[in-house]
Amino acid sequence: MITLALSKGRIFDETLPLLAAAGIEVLEDPEKSRKLILPTNQPGVRVVLVRATDVPTYVEYGGADLGVTGKDTLIEHGGQGLYQPLDLQIAKCRMSVAVRNDFDYASAVRQGSRLKVATKYTAIAREFFASKGVHVDLIKLYGSMELAPLTGLADAIVDLVSTGNTLKANQLVEVERIMDISSRLVVNQAALKLKQAAIRPILDAFSNAIESNAVSS
Ligand code: PRP
Repeated sequence: MITLALSKGRIFDETLPLLAAAGIEVLEDPEKSRKLILPTNQPGVRVVLVRATDVPTYVEYGGADLGVTGKDTLIEHGGQGLYQPLDLQIAKCRMSVAVRNDFDYASAVRQGSRLKVATKYTAIAREFFASKGVHVDLIKLYGSMELAPLTGLADAIVDLVSTGNTLKANQLVEVERIMDISSRLVVNQAALKLKQAAIRPILDAFSNAIESNAVSS
């Protein structure tokens, strides 16, 4: 049995066409079902639904053989024990610094001010500001980062930006683009050896589908 860990939402939705390219069809809709283990049309393949931040952990310890997770989540996790063969080019967005539209970020940085930065992505934020030589106090949050500058909890946030609509709706502006983000396939290293015959065709089908998407777009 091959177990693939996915998180609900954009990653699940955008992984479906890649699975279809490998001849795998998920038989239940996670938005309609409360089930956490979803069967597929292939008796030897199942999907488990986990929180996005738990995907690397499931794959690292063999609770799943394969998983799909954002580059952001992988960097925060550390990626140890995971084989990362493919950038799936899905769930694309960027990791950015944002502030209130009346906060003068450039001059705060120029003056060497110590910035309060709220984020779920503390490893990425720490590394980014250290590379710029900006001193920061990091405040760990688990969601709704946009609220932090509006309430005075922080001067800035580090968060994912896709359309930019969430920032705009909360009078925030993007002041730095830290990195582009997309989702990766991660594979348990032992499973890759022991279940090679089942896993290799899935990797090949994903890889071909990504290539033909790149050609057509
Ligand atoms: C992400 C991110 C922003 C939003 C950005 O949240 O944290 O809040 O999307 O998207 P936009 O630029 O298109 O408005 P997500 O909905 O993934 O949920 P989360 O808060 O649980 O991370």
